[in-house]
Amino acid sequence: MSRIAYVNGSYVPLAYARVHVEDRGFQFSDGVYEVFPVYGGRVANMPWHLERLGNSLTGLQLAWPVSPAVIPALLRQMLIRNRITGGGMIYVQITRGASPRNHVFPSRDLKPTFVITARPLDMTIRDIQAAKGVRVISVTDNRWSRRDIKSVSLLPNLLAKQKAMEAGAFEALFVDGQSMVTECAASTFWIVTEEGELWTHPLGPEILPGVTRRAVLTLAREMGLRVEERVFSLEQAIAAREAFLTSATNFVMPIVEIDGHFIADGVPGPVSMRLRRAYIDKL
Ligand SMILES: Cc1ncc(COP(=O)(O)O)c(C=O)c1O
Repeated sequence: MSRIAYVNGSYVPLAYARVHVEDRGFQFSDGVYEVFPVYGGRVANMPWHLERLGNSLTGLQLAWPVSPAVIPALLRQMLIRNRITGGGMIYVQITRGASPRNHVFPSRDLKPTFVITARPLDMTIRDIQAAKGVRVISVTDNRWSRRDIKSVSLLPNLLAKQKAMEAGAFEALFVDGQSMVTECAASTFWIVTEEGELWTHPLGPEILPGVTRRAVLTLAREMGLRVEERVFSLEQAIAAREAFLTSATNFVMPIVEIDGHFIADGVPGPVSMRLRRAYIDKL
């Protein structure tokens, strides 16, 4: 049975789903997106994902295409119509709409383009990866300076992730001009220091405010871990006792190697694994 997409108010088979060739998302990446994780057939952390989508829209001076109150019902429809009862993801994209090509924003009356797709994901693959831990490579953070906006302009992230894949790594870790770590190409980066403190980059324009980051910060504090949102270097990351990444579809993923250097003894750390379990239990 074919997958179903939602395009500007209609549910259509994915193969027939279309947007205009002059869509500003296509021509200028003038749009935002959100990834809603699905676990056990339910959307996880829905209010936080909606809140971030609202902030991304504001960041690009875009309006909601429909009332945000309606979106949970649309997402549920997508799960039903795509028969997703276990793990999966729902992708929402909103662009400024279709208009003759011109850098300047067209009239505020322009109808935005609003697309939703959904697909099942086999979460057991991630459990297998998490049991072994993953490798990352560092790359220069050459993105724009508003990384807190989840814009569809992802070219540097794509190039970084491709480089990682070609190096046999799972993720790319962005490092700025001062050798400080920001985040990964599609995930938040964390370390556990020698003193047992949990560190991740503070919120701000340098990183995307990860929803999983938000949930894991709360969990870690509930578990009595000492947490610091602070800037740290690649060198400090390599010397850490543990490292892991978080994202909507990877949950908490232990990192065992950075640029060919093992993290501690090169196996997933106990804090990372405890956080992974606790996070999944709460989904
Ligand atoms: C650049 C970047 N940082 C962090 C994240 C993690 O965010 P979340 O936990 O909301 O998936 C993502 C997710 O796609 C991302 O693209």
